[in-house]
Amino acid sequence: MRKKIIAANWKMNMTVGEAEAFLDTFLLELGDESGVDVVIVPPFTALAKVGERLSNSSTVKLGAQNMAFEKSGAFTGEISAAMLRDLYVRYVVLGHSERRTLFGETDAIVNKKVRAAHEASLKPILCVGETLAERDADRVEEVLETQLRGSLADMSSKEIVETVIAYEPVWAIGTGRVATPEQAQAAHAFIRKTIAMIADQAVADKVRIQYGGSVKPDNAKTLLGQPDIDGALVGGASLDPRAFVEIVKAGASIEA
Ligand code: PGA
Repeated sequence: MRKKIIAANWKMNMTVGEAEAFLDTFLLELGDESGVDVVIVPPFTALAKVGERLSNSSTVKLGAQNMAFEKSGAFTGEISAAMLRDLYVRYVVLGHSERRTLFGETDAIVNKKVRAAHEASLKPILCVGETLAERDADRVEEVLETQLRGSLADMSSKEIVETVIAYEPVWAIGTGRVATPEQAQAAHAFIRKTIAMIADQAVADKVRIQYGGSVKPDNAKTLLGQPDIDGALVGGASLDPRAFVEIVKAGASIEA
């Protein structure tokens, strides 16, 4: 049984004050919901304050949006795993398509980051997904397999089990164009099959795979009801505390 995991990827949004206002509403409306794991992923500048506000919650955990693979030193502008641990960060989003396309992150770089995260006992949320051109060219499986094999190279079964995979078709991110539940389920089933090849079936059965790309309150339940969809990585809709609570509750209602 895989517990669903719903994450709010705020991207480059939310000042500390805005984050606090979000939490005032979100935590109140969430109440004592505990059927799903929830991760709030603010920008670095709001991590300390959000972490402080979440310190009493057993359901809602703190995540970061990126991390350096180097441990420390002359890397101006970078943030290390130890710095994140210091702020009680538990999860870190790695290999998001915006990092891959806008900041040149390759599978080899993402792999170094995923391994550095595990070394520091941070749980990576590893993003994979195809572009529209790749989907139109019937290359979805090839692209996913390459990204998974590259990003998960040289990792133990235990590390793979503790990695959350986020399937995010690039054409669905921030576009309002969500994958159909059938398209998403097919990609998730393929990802699980690929994990079974990279590790083994027991590992594949345990790995949680989130869907991301225009998840909203009105489509969350159908997506989260698919057999291989174990959660959601939510961008735009996670900036509105009420919309995000609805998505979390949609996940919990399936679990119940
Ligand atoms: P979106 O973003 O929900 O705004 O499409 C998802 C993501 O990039 O994680």
